[in-house]
Amino acid sequence: AMLGAGTGPLAGLKALVTSGPTHEPIDPVRYIANRSSGKQGHAIAAALARLGAETLLISGPVNLPDPLGVSTKHVETAREMLAACEAALPADIAVCAAAVADWRVDNEAGQKIKKEKGGLPQLSFTENPDILATLSKLNHSRPRLVIGFAAETENVIEHASAKRERKGCDWIVANDVSVDETGGGVMGGEENTIHLIRAEGREDWPRMAKSAAAEKLARAIAQHFSLSDEG
Ligand code: CTP
Ligand code: CA
Repeated sequence: AMLGAGTGPLAGLKALVTSGPTHEPIDPVRYIANRSSGKQGHAIAAALARLGAETLLISGPVNLPDPLGVSTKHVETAREMLAACEAALPADIAVCAAAVADWRVDNEAGQKIKKEKGGLPQLSFTENPDILATLSKLNHSRPRLVIGFAAETENVIEHASAKRERKGCDWIVANDVSVDETGGGVMGGEENTIHLIRAEGREDWPRMAKSAAAEKLARAIAQHFSLSDEG
């Protein structure tokens, strides 16, 4: 049966999910971006909605359909993604799954940069706002549960735990994105190996489909709210 908003363990809660890459323009036809298919973030938004949360997905450019049961807002840049998140507050749950570009070009050209001009373009970079850290450090409108991702290629647990403390989020979903023994990468792939890192400790999940990982994370979120509402 279809679960509409208003039924399920997350009924009455509002969730915000970022997903996909951001694109940071160099000129009107070129950009820099991270590798991200958006599959994991989109699957999490769908899973939260299935459990009854009123879910807003804020997505960078991806080749995926908008998930059913979710309101989706499309953005391009990190600054647009942050503005869309802020506009969506208040929210109970924030899941930052987007692969936000850490830097943007601060001397973006208004016209296409032409080769004929000779020489090479001199790009100058500035740091983008950190959406996860910004949401985690809000005073009045901080979502009650803020979850970040950490895509790491080495020392996954150590780097991810440090990231949790630095960003001020509640949970970190740590993701080993090193190329695995079969030669297949996580980026763009269908599966993920996740460690869920919380203040209380860590859970190591077996390698599973991104859709299954999304379901498991949504269940952990529902469990968290059922425990915190009992007390
Ligand atoms: N993130 C964000 N805004 C940014 C950069 C990252 O919201 N400008 C979020 C990501 O969505 C993710 C988490 O922060 O949930 C960690 O992203 P990651 O790139 O692993 O961390 P960084 O702090 O950018 O560190 P680095 O890339 O140097 O490892
Ligand atoms: Ca980064």
